[in-house]
Amino acid sequence: MENKDIHILAIESSCDETAAAVVRNGRKVISNVISSQIDIHTLYGGVVPEIASRKHIERINQVITQALTEADMKLADMDAIAVTYGPGLVGALLVGVAEAKAISFATGIPLIGVHHIEGHICANYIENKDLEPPFISLVVSGGHTHLVNVMDYGVYEILGRTRDDAAGEAFDKVARAIGLGYPGGPKIDKVAKEGNPEAIDFPRAKVRDGEYDFSFSGLKSAVLNYLNSEKMAGREINVPDVAASFQKAVTDVLTEHSINALKAGSYKKFALAGGVASNSALRASMKEACEREGIKLYCPSPVFCTDNAAMIGVAGYYEYIKGNFADLSLNAIPNLKLGQR
Ligand code: KG4
Ligand code: ZN
Repeated sequence: MENKDIHILAIESSCDETAAAVVRNGRKVISNVISSQIDIHTLYGGVVPEIASRKHIERINQVITQALTEADMKLADMDAIAVTYGPGLVGALLVGVAEAKAISFATGIPLIGVHHIEGHICANYIENKDLEPPFISLVVSGGHTHLVNVMDYGVYEILGRTRDDAAGEAFDKVARAIGLGYPGGPKIDKVAKEGNPEAIDFPRAKVRDGEYDFSFSGLKSAVLNYLNSEKMAGREINVPDVAASFQKAVTDVLTEHSINALKAGSYKKFALAGGVASNSALRASMKEACEREGIKLYCPSPVFCTDNAAMIGVAGYYEYIKGNFADLSLNAIPNLKLGQR
């Protein structure tokens, strides 16, 4: 008998993108619609949670309709609805969760709750059909910095995490301090290309009792102190040099910890994930280190690095295969832990 294709309608609304996608058999993205709120949050220098929730409500139906239209499919063709239920902004998550529950209740299509970080890791499966666990993944986004041992589909061990700011958060805060605005990551990435990464020796924080843990708040303070002292001395700030030196300090630590974890576990596969994974300096540094160590590097295209629903559909597929369905009591969990259900 011919195997039936499994189609998942995925919904993502954990932060400032309202997104929906249709994914076939866990690896093929049929449609991927993302409505970004960046323009409105830029006015405030960062994501304003209440505005994010309101915008999700305005856009979610339209985004889902568009995802189905672009896939040339109907709701009735869907085998399951996968939705991000944490971690993230509670009001933002609730919009997606309530929407998915309402569709599931009205149509009888099974519901699946997906962990947002798991989604980021699963983004790597979309363009790399050969990638299968076990491997190590570094998830670097605006809210998270996790070094994860992906033992099997849906089975994770966290090897290291940030003790304070997430990597993307550090990019965003430093960008604001040097007058680049929000979102800072892509802006620092661009400006840093004109700067000298060796110009300023910013600290590479080591965390005591946590070989693979990260800390970025000290680096952020070091940048702010540097900016203040230069200003006091009446010297002009070289923005590209500050951006390049800060970026190098972040990418050095991310690369070193990842390579140490890969070598310690004799892993041969490494997958980058999350918004910061589209940073060109991080990609270059990881590429060079992985080539040196004989490790195969995977990295999603930028559109699958930042928040999207396709990655949620991929993660949802592997839960579907395991029969991990949610019922209508599914709720938003803002601080949901990876591996928790
Ligand atoms: O994964 P994502 O879209 O949202 C979260 O789950 O947090 O990541 C957004 C973060 C922001 O902090 C943004 O500044 C950062 O990813 N980012 C970058 C780049 N593109 C996005 N950081 C550094 N370089 C980039 N090219
Ligand atoms: Zn994210």
